[in-house]
Amino acid sequence: MAPSKRRNIVTTDLKVGVIGLGWAGQQHLDAYSTIEGVEIVAVAAMEQDLLAAAAEKYAVANTFARWEDLLELDGLDAISVAVPNFLHAPIAIAALQRGIHVLSEKPIARNGEEGQQMVDAARAAGRVLDVAFNHRRRGDIQALKGAIDRGEVGRPYFAKAAWLRRQGIPMLGSWFTNPALAGGGPLADIGVHVLDYALDLLGEPEVLAVSASTYSELGPRGLGGNAQYSAAATDHAFGVEDFATAFLRLEGGATLLIEAGWASYRNPDDEMNFLVYGTDGGAELRVAGDPGELRIFRDNGAENADYSPEVGESGMHLGVVIDFVAAVRAGEEEWKRHDGSLALKRTRVIDACYASAREGREVQL
Ligand SMILES: NC(=O)c1ccc[n+]([C@@H]2O[C@H](COP(=O)([O-])OP(=O)(O)OC[C@H]3O[C@@H](n4cnc5c(N)ncnc54)[C@H](O)[C@@H]3O)[C@@H](O)[C@H]2O)c1
Repeated sequence: MAPSKRRNIVTTDLKVGVIGLGWAGQQHLDAYSTIEGVEIVAVAAMEQDLLAAAAEKYAVANTFARWEDLLELDGLDAISVAVPNFLHAPIAIAALQRGIHVLSEKPIARNGEEGQQMVDAARAAGRVLDVAFNHRRRGDIQALKGAIDRGEVGRPYFAKAAWLRRQGIPMLGSWFTNPALAGGGPLADIGVHVLDYALDLLGEPEVLAVSASTYSELGPRGLGGNAQYSAAATDHAFGVEDFATAFLRLEGGATLLIEAGWASYRNPDDEMNFLVYGTDGGAELRVAGDPGELRIFRDNGAENADYSPEVGESGMHLGVVIDFVAAVRAGEEEWKRHDGSLALKRTRVIDACYASAREGREVQL
């Protein structure tokens, strides 16, 4: 398609569309609906009931069963892409080529190759491509980041981060469990959040090499499923991993151990965590609710000086959407800084983890 002829207008009133009305799409709708000057003009999804409910709740004038039709609507400034992972790239690229700013759900795409095409499209169009990493906006993670950035742990040299569920395969037999539609299992799904907040907490070091293993022990036997997720079950088989672990060598010598599991015999049912050892202190966050339990480990000479920092409110999707809208309103200079490349880096690391697991060796990035 030819590059968009739309002018680079910095609009204050924004017309947005949301594609996909599962759990993720609902978070985007809720968030947009609270921002002054943002009008949700269109929604697209395959479920007639969800389209009707969204149209009524948010006074949306246009509903579509096909995302292609939504993109044809005149005057759209921005869209959210909250559909299964295999559709992130085609929808985002088509929108960017029309001059429409894009907020995509995570992971950026099924793999780095598709993610790169999205980043290239954002740069060519000169439009925003943001990716929703809502968990790094948790109040407890922000408090932990504040402590690390203030030097409370000194130089971090080892960190461990995980998101683990007992029985949390997001609907056995849905697109989530089909590698062709999802690109991967828990490593791509929730591991990408873990990788995102861990790298952010550690000051965004480059990942130099990874050594990973993946397991598929419960899902293929019909175990570990959770039907409370919004995705619909189809006849897809379970073709992804249900647990993954990866050892990452980081620039500067630090190492990071990651675990991502939808299902394993463990307690508690659903837990996210982060642990760091540094030269002057350490920290541990265990999240089973909001806020999680956060401790900073320090000493003052021979005295133990451990403490729990104050934790603020969690931003989650609202924070992501507020920042996206602010970036779109900020104009061209800011648009260049929002090209999806940070999200692409995460997906490239995950690609390397899958390659390492397949080949049974360390993979350099
Ligand atoms: N950031 C988070 O915390 C978070 C949480 C859950 C899901 N997600 C991400 O959000 C995305 C969606 O996940 P979900 O759990 O909401 O999935 P879901 O299966 O519950 O919902 C997907 C939606 O996409 C729509 N859709 C599918 N194909 C379509 C098409 N061709 N045209 C128009 N609409 C179409 C479906 O009709 C449905 O409304 C995924 O990328 C997932 O990784 C992010």
